Amino acid sequence: MVKIAVIPGDGVGKEVIPEAVRALEALNRARSLDLSLETFDYGADRYLRDGVTMPDEQVEAFREDYDAILLGAIGDPRVPDNRHGREILLGLRFKLDLYVNLRPVQLLDERFCPLKGKTVRDIDFTVFRENTEGLYADVGGIFKKGTPDEIAVNEDVNTRKGVERVIRAAFEFAKKRGKRRVCMSDKANALRFAHDLWQRVFREVGAEYPGIEKRHLYVDALAMQLLLRPEAFDVIVTCNLFGDILTDLGAALCGGLGLAASANLNPASTPMFEPVHGSAPDIAGKGIANPLASFLTSALLLDELGLPAEAQILERAVRDAVAAGKLTPDAGGTAKTREVADFVIARVEALSGG
Ligand code: NAD
Ligand code: IPM
Ligand code: MN
Repeated sequence: MVKIAVIPGDGVGKEVIPEAVRALEALNRARSLDLSLETFDYGADRYLRDGVTMPDEQVEAFREDYDAILLGAIGDPRVPDNRHGREILLGLRFKLDLYVNLRPVQLLDERFCPLKGKTVRDIDFTVFRENTEGLYADVGGIFKKGTPDEIAVNEDVNTRKGVERVIRAAFEFAKKRGKRRVCMSDKANALRFAHDLWQRVFREVGAEYPGIEKRHLYVDALAMQLLLRPEAFDVIVTCNLFGDILTDLGAALCGGLGLAASANLNPASTPMFEPVHGSAPDIAGKGIANPLASFLTSALLLDELGLPAEAQILERAVRDAVAAGKLTPDAGGTAKTREVADFVIARVEALSGG
């Protein structure tokens, strides 16, 4: 049995994740997969009700007893300091030591791209975002809070081990998938300690991959190049914060956050899959959230669990929805979440032969 823990979370997470679950259940039936999906209510409602965010015993149970986690989004205007978001989302990434945040940036249809003259062949790269340290390490503090002398510090934590393992994962991915080029992006010209480490490790690890073209760009220059020449990139590896920012930019190149998927990985732990988008409080409850990111995220999950044929069926079904123009307003259509999901799930069933 393949055990999947499902955490819809907050806002539109509670609208799109149930649709992803329906698609996974349809595949489960049609292809006799023996998936077992179990839903957990972690999120803002639970936190506001009983103060629970993500208990350590739960993280341990996910690590020991589950094959994957599917998470929607965490974030709620009623929790302005996002404490539950840090403890649930970042808590799972950190405590499960999911050091790779893999975010594909793949244009499914030319009409989604805001750039002039770019085709689906031009925008197809994968970002390896470091996911367990950097400025997200939560090391720091505030001194003299609320006074004119206040000092606020967040340390940028970069370890040799942490930098090396994500850079190596990026090269291994490139090698396995036949990708020609790996670009490392940092800000070593200003951050002369932390990102000097990235420079040295990239050179050392890169030397083990003679067949792969190595390139370095400072992150400001990379942001510009991604808009001007996205076709120049196959694999990008970068630190936690830069990866966060660049992948929203990447999502925008492909039609927006409603279509962007991600996987949090460590081969020795329980992987977690989530759309790149957040809880979208501005549209939550209206039934118009785009479910395609959650379907594509579920395809990443199936692929990682060793079910590539089923991953392809789900991805194909998403492409069919795109081709048919069965889209929510953010992606240029007029359909509701439910209509898009019904279409995709019907295609999943047809393609499964079920
Ligand atoms: P957001 O991704 O929630 O929304 C940004 C914009 O994209 C909004 O206009 C929203 O309507 C739109 N959008 C996002 N997902 C969409 C979808 N599926 N369909 C259609 N449109 C969609 O980012 P934000 O507004 O900066 O953050 C809102 C909350 O979500 C915050 O609390 C933030 O911390 C949290 N957040 C959580 C995650 C996560 O859990 N992985 C990721 C990002 C943000
Ligand atoms: C993401 C989100 C999170 C991040 C937030 C909600 C902490 O923006 O998954 O991209 O910065 O990692
Ligand atoms: Mn983000």
